[in-house]
Amino acid sequence: MNVEIFNLSMTYPSGKTALRGINLNLSSPNLIGLLGPNGAGKSTLMKLLVAGLLPTEGAISVDGKPLMKQERLLKSRLGYLPQSFGLFDELTVWQFLDYMAALKGIVNS
Ligand SMILES: Nc1ncnc2c1ncn2[C@@H]1O[C@H](COP(=O)(O)OP(=O)(O)OP(=O)(O)O)[C@@H](O)[C@H]1O
Ligand SMILES: [Mg+2]
Repeated sequence: MNVEIFNLSMTYPSGKTALRGINLNLSSPNLIGLLGPNGAGKSTLMKLLVAGLLPTEGAISVDGKPLMKQERLLKSRLGYLPQSFGLFDELTVWQFLDYMAALKGIVNS
């Protein structure tokens, strides 16, 4: 898989610009670490890479096609543990896994 990031910028509705003009080419197989001080924009970049946010400028392509057109393929191959996440207190572990599998289109036979 080849991920290309072109001139990526993200300004939140509050007016805060978290990323400006990022250009990167990421190819698998590779182990990549994203390092930066607090507030550098690491989580913002991860959210953009998993199509959890839309950039205000620039584009991300996966294997030469726009990320949004590859979203299904990407999500079928992606494991992503966000920095902050929520759990439902009323669900058991099994019920929660079942729910997430249903959201990801994993059929329980
Ligand atoms: N939803 C949001 N609305 C407005 N500003 C935001 C939002 N999320 C992040 N920011 C701001 O964007 C900048 C980048 O934040 P981000 O969370 O991407 O940084 P980070 O590198 O992941 O930081 P940390 O190391 O603390 O996790 C920060 O100034 C942050 O306050
Ligand atoms: Mg973060």
